[in-house]
Parts: sequence; C-alpha cells; structure tokens
Amino acid sequence: MQHTVLVTGGAGYIGSHTTRQLLHTGYRVLVVDNLYSGNKWAIPEQAVFVELDAGNREAVGRLIHEHDVTAVIHFAGHIVVPESVSDPAKYYANNVANSLHLIEACRDSGVRHFIFSSSAAVYGTPASIPVDEEADTVPINPYGFSKLATEWMLQDLTNSDRINNKPASQCFNHVALRYFNVAGAALDGSLGQATPDATHLIKVACEAACGKRDQIAIFGTDYDTEDGTCIRDYIHVEDLARAHVMALRYLLSGGESQTLNCGYGHGFSVREVLGMVQKVSKKRFAVVEAKRRPGDPPALVAEKTKIHEVLGWIPEYDDLKMICESAYKWEHKLEQLHRKPGMETKAG
Ligand code: UFG
Repeated sequence: MQHTVLVTGGAGYIGSHTTRQLLHTGYRVLVVDNLYSGNKWAIPEQAVFVELDAGNREAVGRLIHEHDVTAVIHFAGHIVVPESVSDPAKYYANNVANSLHLIEACRDSGVRHFIFSSSAAVYGTPASIPVDEEADTVPINPYGFSKLATEWMLQDLTNSDRINNKPASQCFNHVALRYFNVAGAALDGSLGQATPDATHLIKVACEAACGKRDQIAIFGTDYDTEDGTCIRDYIHVEDLARAHVMALRYLLSGGESQTLNCGYGHGFSVREVLGMVQKVSKKRFAVVEAKRRPGDPPALVAEKTKIHEVLGWIPEYDDLKMICESAYKWEHKLEQLHRKPGMETKAG
C-alpha cells in the first residue's frame, strides 16, 4: 500500500530534505506550509503543496480526509533559541498551540502515526555528556519548553488510548526526534538551508565566507570548555532526514511510541567549527569575540545508542568537514537562486 504522509513545514530546511527522501522511498507526500520561513521552490514537484497554517485544525482535518493521509511528520515551528527568549509568546503560540490543533486534527480524523521534530533543547544544561533520552528535561529557554510541551501532549495522547483500552490497531503512536545541531546541505548542491535571517552557526559562518556578512561573532569565550566556547553535536541534514523516513517505517509496521536523540555522539566547539569553515572555504573572514548569548547551554552532545537500536539508524555523513563543505557549496548556489525570478529566498 502506498501511504500518504502529511509533512508540515515541508518547504523549510529539514522538511524539504525529508520530503525528497520520502518521495524517493515511494511515499506520497502532502506538504502543508504557510511559507513563513519556507520556500515554495524547495518543495519537490511530485509533492502536493497546500499553503496553510499547520494549526488550522478544520482545514488540516479536511485535507487528511481528502488525501487519505495515514501519517503526519510535524516540522513546522519556530526554531531560534535567542528569539524565543526575547519573544516567548510567539514560540508558545506556534510551537505549542498550533501543535495541539494539529494533533487534535489527527485524532479527529483517525491519523495514528505522528513524527515530531523535537530538540535537544529539552535537556537544558545536562548534568552529564553525552546526554541520553532518560536524562532530566529541564529546558533553559522558551524554545526548549515549547518542544517539551508538545512531547508531553503526544505522550499523554498515546497513554490515553491505552488507558481507554482502545484496540492496538487503533492506538495513537508517535516518535519524537530530539535534534541536536542540524547543518549541511545535499552533497550535489541541489538543496539546503535558505532560512531568512539565519542565526545558526554553520550557516552564518558560510554567509561570512561568501562575503554576505562582514564578520561573525563568537557568543561567549568564557565557558567551562577546553577553548572556552560552546560545544555542540552537529548532524548532517541528510542523515536527519533519513531518521524520519526510518521512524515512519517503524511506526507503520507497528512500532511503539519512542523518544530518540538525533546526533552523532561527539561535539565540536564554536572555534573548531569556524576554523573548519575557514579551511574548506579558504576564506579568512573576520571573527570577533562577543558576550554570551542568553539561553545557550555550554555543551550538548547526544548519546546515540537508542536510535540505532530502535530504528537501525547509522549515520552516513558523520564528518564535520563534509558538513561544512556542503553548507558552503550551498551558500554559493543560493546566490544564483536569488537571481532567478520566482526562486528568491525571503532573505533576499
Ligand atoms: N554561535 C555563535 N555565533 C553565531 C551563531 C551561533 O557563537 O553567530 C554559537 C551559539 O552561541 C552556540 C553555538 O554557536 O553556542 C550553536 O548555536 P546555533 O544558533 O547554531 O544553535 P543552537 O545550539 O542555539 O540551537 C540549535 C537548534 C536547536 C537545538 C539545538 C540543540 O536551533 O533547535 O541546536 O543543540 F535545540
């Protein structure tokens, strides 16, 4: 049976990479995206696209029936940690309230399989590194809280079906994927991150290497880490997209609800990342030292055993050089996209 998957945020960075892999694997894909930060050109032609807010419960419910949707992958959401600190209501409205409306639309229309883009931000500042899925979840910013709240909603819905003694074949199941730091682009330069006003380290560094920015700031050089800058676990977007396809197959074949880290299990400091982007780009862009950014934990690195055991996921692009090279190549490509009518990114 060919399943139809509803992908919210399929015009965005991770959503578009996943949509492409789903189509290659043989799924039909219905993309729902309000184009707030996504780009229409990033949606593969074979996908059906509806410009719509993922939180529009009635309209999403209608689409689920019309397209006979069997699973939902929910990417749509705001993702910038510092913005969540300065404008928390924006994050609770979109990441929590809209997620609830979408989950209700799924429940009302009998969609039982749900994959959610969660985040390592739910851990806050972990007591130990690498952090596993059983660790305490104590977010230190509204973004992390908004992701955790949606995880709770999904878990409660999953539990309620069991408590209400629904037959297993009718029970709601979900996989929450806790992303670490997603970066990179398709190796052939065909797809990548085009998020407007980017704030993520590798993207910003590539923009500096391409001359789109005069300099890049290191936010905090006095952390308790080897070189004083924050450590993150950078994961290539294609590996992450594949984790979604594998999670979908897992749920469709009767797998139980899961919460899984998506990371490689080792981290790099901000200075190491900037050094790598300078190396692959051969551009010595200016780097300045700045104050700490609110909401940043010193180090976040995934314990990756569980996703391997549950889904059989094995990374293919676990290489910081490859991640930075592909991100830099894509940044050049974006320049050309800007010049093509209808292909502009919001940033340009
Ligand atoms: N950083 C800089 N300068 C910049 C941009 C970032 O020094 O111009 C630093 C940040 O202070 C931080 C590190 O680089 O120490 C990574 O910051 P990013 O903004 O790239 O990413 P975050 O770690 O803040 O957040 C990302 C995702 C979250 C996810 C988190 C998990 O946006 O969804 O990774 O580690 F939760």
